[in-house]
Amino acid sequence: MHRRTFVSAAAAAGVGVLAGSRSAIAADAEIVVSPAAEGPVINPHVYGHFIEHLGGVIYDGIWVGPDSKIPNVGGIRQQFASDMKRIAAPNLRWPGGCFADGYHWRDGIGPAAKRPRTYNFWEPRMPAGVRATETNHFGIHEFIRLCRVVGAEPYVAANVGSSNPQEFYDWVLYCNAPQGTVSLADERAKNGDAEPFAVKYWGVGNESWGCGGNMTGSEYATEYRKFVTQFPTYTRPYLVAAGPRGHSADMDLGWTEGFFEGLQGHRVRADGFALHYYTDFRQTGEDGARFDAKGWYAVLHKGIRIDRIIEDHWRLMDRYDPEHHTRFVIDEWGNWYKGGTELGPAYLLSQTITLRDALHSAMTFDIFNRHAEKIEMANVAQTINCLHSLFAAVEDRYTRTPTYYVFELYRRHMGARLVPMQVAAPDLTVPLLEGSGRLPGLSGSASIRDRRLTLTLTNPSLDAAVSARIRVAVGRVAEGRGTVLTHEDMRATNTFDDPDNVSLSALAVEVSGDAAHVTVPRKAVVALDLMLA
Ligand code: AHR
Repeated sequence: MHRRTFVSAAAAAGVGVLAGSRSAIAADAEIVVSPAAEGPVINPHVYGHFIEHLGGVIYDGIWVGPDSKIPNVGGIRQQFASDMKRIAAPNLRWPGGCFADGYHWRDGIGPAAKRPRTYNFWEPRMPAGVRATETNHFGIHEFIRLCRVVGAEPYVAANVGSSNPQEFYDWVLYCNAPQGTVSLADERAKNGDAEPFAVKYWGVGNESWGCGGNMTGSEYATEYRKFVTQFPTYTRPYLVAAGPRGHSADMDLGWTEGFFEGLQGHRVRADGFALHYYTDFRQTGEDGARFDAKGWYAVLHKGIRIDRIIEDHWRLMDRYDPEHHTRFVIDEWGNWYKGGTELGPAYLLSQTITLRDALHSAMTFDIFNRHAEKIEMANVAQTINCLHSLFAAVEDRYTRTPTYYVFELYRRHMGARLVPMQVAAPDLTVPLLEGSGRLPGLSGSASIRDRRLTLTLTNPSLDAAVSARIRVAVGRVAEGRGTVLTHEDMRATNTFDDPDNVSLSALAVEVSGDAAHVTVPRKAVVALDLMLA
């Protein structure tokens, strides 16, 4: 077997990878973790969410209304809220997406029955009669209620494409000014919320290179400057500029260059830069539910391209912002197939979520963890009834998808300190939709909180388990606990009739001295908790 050694881009972020080469056969992996080394804290917001007025995401998925027979908390689907609490959902991005740049916040306040019915950006693509109009029954008050029920921080995307700085300014005042200070704050109180919403995260438009206005990076920089120059700062804002279409063939580096160039010489900066990366298979016949080994590997292979995209854009940003004040907010990521596997009639942009999507999520999160110092936030697109969702719901039927369980497994990384991890394992040579490619035979990330070391590992092979020996550079392992997400069938999914088909189970971990041993089954994600003595 030919072995090669390289230091991956991730090594700079504290994770070393030593790799060899093999075709799909079993091989032992040697992992060394250095818990004493200083690493950045993994921002809990990396495990964030995105919900848009699109298909069945808001209406049906989340908002069933206070008069619904479906158990709800003030109109919010109760099961959804309690599952979101269970994974400690740190934030919710709303109202879009493309919807955001056609949304006028005043349409969503006041008595629900009196709110105007308006046009939704997605309407032409929604089944006729199912979502004929936007009712505006879910507005900023309902959104904040949802955030409060879940315990999540609001992240509001403001309308740049069809609005103006004044509307943005007024929305911020309405949300954040204390009652009694300005008329808009009193109007908010009259509408039921005396307490300010204290919204810190504000997106200044969305995909301004496309549905948010079809601008160039430099044209958007001009708009951005106008929108943020006057900003009511009752709550210290974190302003997120629209970033590149990372899934473009050229990664859209030109957008990043145009935007940062356009800020040069102005006393304006962005706190966050919204990189989008869809593992985009819309142009192929790839289907979310029915696929073969080539499709399995192609999705995982394309998914990990995000690693390079983060690196390349970061390097470019370094030219304009060497201290890296601006960090990534990867506020849309996930798999996007050709469609046609929706569970419900209103499920525009929905697809079946399988074990493949779960492994993709795990490999993505490990990459995000390894770039912890570069990423403020990330938001899966989208949380329910959409692409890459954690949940599906139609009326009173509800299920968690395989992706949900990855959020549950990775929860222990949230707010923990990244620690360097070296993996020596052979690469896999895998078939893709066209030709072949290479995938790490085992990949992952490690973090520490107090004396608990957490490792997450993914074995993408359809053929062979990987036995791994994990050694801690300093100290002893007193105790180990493992949890695994896998299934016999690579296409395994959860349905309304079989909601527990794919779920977590315990995995044996052997512990001795400074090491732990575990066997990572094929097509599996594993989380290990090692208590250090
Ligand atoms: O998540 C679906 C859509 O994908 C969003 O509305 C848009 O921002 C992106 O193109």
